[in-house]
Amino acid sequence: MEQDVFVERFGGVFEHSPFIAARAYEAGLIDEPLTVESVHDALSAIFRTASPDEKLGVLRAHPDLAGKLAIAGELTEDSRNEQAGAGLDRLSADEHGRFTALNSAYTEKFGFPFIIAVRGLTKDDILSAFESRIGNAAETEFATACREVEKIARLRLTSLLPG
Ligand code: GUN
Repeated sequence: MEQDVFVERFGGVFEHSPFIAARAYEAGLIDEPLTVESVHDALSAIFRTASPDEKLGVLRAHPDLAGKLAIAGELTEDSRNEQAGAGLDRLSADEHGRFTALNSAYTEKFGFPFIIAVRGLTKDDILSAFESRIGNAAETEFATACREVEKIARLRLTSLLPG
């Protein structure tokens, strides 16, 4: 597969961060046949060697859960499906208020949005993870967010590739 085709197809696996796919390709890490595992290993290896600033940029490229972009209908298709899959597009006013308050407090504390691989989680699971993780130390939470980004990438790849 040519680099531009690869980046076009897999550039969004790390949200709004096609440089990850481009670097993986340029590093010669992409071998046919493409599988979830092989592509996930390659993209994650590149993500792990990215600079702290680049990682922070990837974290910041994520929209808030049940945030303004979601309400405005401006999410990527993957984000929209993930958020809707967890019922975040059908919150009561009270639940919505909790998300809004937590989103602000979390971003204020850490400088990036709360990221969690939501597939298989209910909105209550997500709220309790949110309430617990907001108490973490900054370094712990940065590492946790990076792990969640890799999990989200794996879930996205399962829709694009055979196992
Ligand atoms: N978890 C799964 N998808 C998303 C997303 O788009 N944004 C955030 N913040 N977390 C997610």
